[in-house]
Amino acid sequence: MGVERIVSGMRPTGPLHLGHLHGVLKKWIELQEKYECFYFIADWHALTTEYENPERIRSYSKELLLDWLSAGLDPERTTIFLQSEVKEHAELFLLLGMLTPVSWLERNPTYKDMIQNLSDKELATYGFLGYPVLQSADILIYKAQKVPVGLDQIPHLELTREIARRFNYLYKVDYFPEPQPLLAEVPKVPGIDGRKMSKSYGNAIFLKDPPEVVRQKILSYVTDTQRPRKSDPGDPENRCNAFHLIKLYMSSEEIDSIISGCKSAQLGCVECKKALAERVINALEPFWKRREEWDKKASLEEILERGISKARDIATRTMEEVREIIFGEKP
Ligand code: TRP
Repeated sequence: MGVERIVSGMRPTGPLHLGHLHGVLKKWIELQEKYECFYFIADWHALTTEYENPERIRSYSKELLLDWLSAGLDPERTTIFLQSEVKEHAELFLLLGMLTPVSWLERNPTYKDMIQNLSDKELATYGFLGYPVLQSADILIYKAQKVPVGLDQIPHLELTREIARRFNYLYKVDYFPEPQPLLAEVPKVPGIDGRKMSKSYGNAIFLKDPPEVVRQKILSYVTDTQRPRKSDPGDPENRCNAFHLIKLYMSSEEIDSIISGCKSAQLGCVECKKALAERVINALEPFWKRREEWDKKASLEEILERGISKARDIATRTMEEVREIIFGEKP
């Protein structure tokens, strides 16, 4: 077998932040070295929850593409495309829907969680129930071996494997491979208020935030609440929200010296956060440079066009085979 194939997608629902970067995006970037990667903007999936207000999906899609490129996805090596431009995904979704029992979808824990968490939206739709079937189509249409995702996506991937097995079994073929998840080790990245970093909590540092915003956000991190004065000894490893970022952005010597300075009440939080902010800014600088370059170029659309056409070639071939497996030769 040649180079293994990777497929993954993200929904365009807002700008990416440090949580996304240290979660799945870094992994995506690394994987470009060793695999044939297909990464796509899952705008149809975004529509399953945003169908009432779809006007932002297009601008978020462009933003997502810029976030990806600025973080280091490389369109020369990787196929980057927009899901809704490869209509074959929809045909495979339809065909897989025929053989997927509704009970498999209803018992999906991610489905149950989302319905609960997004209780302000009417999600008892056919499309939302079918979300993982569409996701299965996204993956199987490229016969991907591996899918880099976060923990919350594991049930969807399990379902993808079940659907692949059912297809192979029903039509007595060994056609779709069963894709395996590639789980990124996800370090804890709390937001400014200590909760999980999230756009909807308003506590996130976005990849595109300018330096002064990054600085101001990091300075407003809630640190050790049991250390109101600098003269009180702190416990960074157990009580400080900014410490998770310190571990990601500072060297081990610096971390040691921060721990001892904090515990011995020598190092104040403001001073510490100022140093951290400069590190994060340094790390994000290449992102901002790349972002500016990409944003100037008229080539964003061209990147998508190239990716779409490459994805479509493969998807078209798969669909020809799938139609033949199900229906046999054309009459
Ligand atoms: N459901 C994924 C998420 O919310 C996005 C997604 C859609 C996806 N299709 C996919 C991920 C196919 C991996 C493979 O993050």
